[in-house]
Amino acid sequence: MLPVTNPDPTFALTRASHVTMSVTNLERSRDFYRDVVGLVVTEESDHAVYLRGLEEAAHHSLVLERADRAHARRIGLRVRTADDVVAAERFCKAANLQFERLERPHQGPTLQFRDPVGTLVELTSEMDVVPRKMQDYHEYRSGAPQRIDHYQVVTYDVQTATDFWAGLGMRMSEYTAKDDTDELWGTWLECKGNTHDLVFTNGKGPRLHHFAFAVPDATSLIHAADVAGALGFGDEIDRGPGRHGISNALFLYLRDPDQHRVELFNTHYQFMDLETPPIRWDVTDPRRAQLWGMPASRRWFFEASEFPGEEVQEPTLHATPATLEDYLGIH
Ligand SMILES: [Fe+2]
Repeated sequence: MLPVTNPDPTFALTRASHVTMSVTNLERSRDFYRDVVGLVVTEESDHAVYLRGLEEAAHHSLVLERADRAHARRIGLRVRTADDVVAAERFCKAANLQFERLERPHQGPTLQFRDPVGTLVELTSEMDVVPRKMQDYHEYRSGAPQRIDHYQVVTYDVQTATDFWAGLGMRMSEYTAKDDTDELWGTWLECKGNTHDLVFTNGKGPRLHHFAFAVPDATSLIHAADVAGALGFGDEIDRGPGRHGISNALFLYLRDPDQHRVELFNTHYQFMDLETPPIRWDVTDPRRAQLWGMPASRRWFFEASEFPGEEVQEPTLHATPATLEDYLGIH
């Protein structure tokens, strides 16, 4: 069933903004995101490393926290003002969601909550401002990621997740469904005016499949793949480069030292006019996943980062995706 976007939500989400990942070797992960991905280290301590993309004026878009086990701690979204954080807290209370107001370094008022399918989310309205480095071309490394763009979450119940976030004002730009029905298998939801800030796909969840940074152009994407190869991370490219049918993104997916997945991509399109309907793709159409290039590997389809304390549940819909291994006849 297609979701109904709430045109007047109780608080204003503006964009995907910051993600916190726990990692088992902080120095090794910092080196990966700085040298192989190309992010800027804003600040580091014994416990945490704060990184950002080159054009970002916000203090951080990726936080790595030292831990005994690797997890996706929470995905972060921005709301427009501090009043929106207060309104979000009222909403969580009324909706009987687990939530907590707390202090986070370099952030304004912050609210953490759990959505109805177990996605751990953090909202904030502001961050410390730091210099944009987009014109420090002499400091560009690897893919030169410019800014965080979106998250993809694997969930056991795409419909429930989609209805919840549409109720908070997110619009669906594209979706996958099966057999002429609108039974939702995957949904691409946005609040910032391009194709997605938050994606839900059917599978064992809740788990974070990836977070994504936009790179300046196709050459940067290829350069990132070359740098990954040169630094010994060639085997950690688990998909791409290729082009998705959905969202038209040119993509490259990398696994970090804890096997968290980060996407570098280029070219999403604008999605703002309210009368524009979502694009429907049949789940059996391989062009939705790649207009060209190889199918994704098994590990791309089935591996993802768990959220701490959230039990992973079997999906309500069952399917066997065609993988690279099937394509190559590897069993
Ligand atoms: Fe993505």
